[in-house]
Amino acid sequence: MVSLWTKKFSKNSLDLYEERIGVGDATANFLIEKFEDQLAEEFGRNFAIFCSSGTGALVAALYFFRQFGFTKVSMPSTSWIANLNAVVATQMHPFFRDTNPSTLLAKWNRNTEEILTAIIHISGRISYPESLSKSPILEDFSQAHFSELEGYKAGKIGQISVASTGITKSLTTIHGGIILCDDENVYEWLKTFIRNGVTNNLVETWGHFGLNFKPNAANASIGLSEIANLQNTLEKIRAVKKQYIKELSEVEFVTLLPHRDLEIPLYVELHCEQGKKLKQFLLDRDIQVKMAPPPMFEAGYIDDSGSPLELLPGARKANETVVILPSGPDLTSEAIRLVTNSVKDFFRV
Ligand SMILES: Cc1ncc(COP(=O)(O)O)c(C=O)c1O
Repeated sequence: MVSLWTKKFSKNSLDLYEERIGVGDATANFLIEKFEDQLAEEFGRNFAIFCSSGTGALVAALYFFRQFGFTKVSMPSTSWIANLNAVVATQMHPFFRDTNPSTLLAKWNRNTEEILTAIIHISGRISYPESLSKSPILEDFSQAHFSELEGYKAGKIGQISVASTGITKSLTTIHGGIILCDDENVYEWLKTFIRNGVTNNLVETWGHFGLNFKPNAANASIGLSEIANLQNTLEKIRAVKKQYIKELSEVEFVTLLPHRDLEIPLYVELHCEQGKKLKQFLLDRDIQVKMAPPPMFEAGYIDDSGSPLELLPGARKANETVVILPSGPDLTSEAIRLVTNSVKDFFRV
């Protein structure tokens, strides 16, 4: 079987953590602090917080903005459903923007001051504010660690920028999330929020709302070892896309969704009018693929998309025509060839 995602870890990813267990220090908080220092440096921000997941990072950031009266979020229609779920969990209301099916990025719209703007980069592609945003920007760069475009660098665009470090991300800790910001007060608030609103276990009053999205030092240890190997991982991700381009360039009716120069091509996606048929054909050959995510406004538990559905046709189209192919830094060239030969066979039958 060819998996949707292939990633291998080095044997010594947990060495730093195991050393601490050896001296009886299972919490190993210093590893978390060391990882956070490196995250702030790598992404060029004043402060970084490591937390338990990208979803936790989103919820924390949304709660932060809610304090200032924001109840509506202008957001893309196409992304991983965690983006919508975080908005629902914080009792905010989505206001969806349509998707461009040839990039999977959301179209831009001018915002009023009352609506929080969420920017989500998809599959390494940078989404950026095409005009001045009147409201603050919450950036989700889960799928675009280390991507850049025209001076916009993922992780530096939002007043608060958040990301997942889940298994299918360029910088992975297997499970985990990142929160980045430049303002010390924002940092202190968010750092306390992800610890149930308390700074330590000895407090005598409950003054600050929060939830438990605490990070874990074993994951931080994996993150430190992944950062040390980062350039190699990014090179391998680029090589996967390059091979797909080379092998599929001459197939009629198939286009690979483009990535621009400094964008990291995290996932390889193919545009094809017969997308769902191609998906089934590949699945029947034991090749794991999936369609671009269904529009989030179709989730059965929300009753208002914020804009009329006829203004949102691109997200539905993307779900019907964009096939996400097996990807990941450790996908072998033989596996890629198996996939591309099968794509060629599909168009021959
Ligand atoms: C764009 C985006 N946001 C948020 C998340 C949620 O992150 P996590 O799975 O770490 O909770 C993901 C996960 O894939 C994602 O792709």
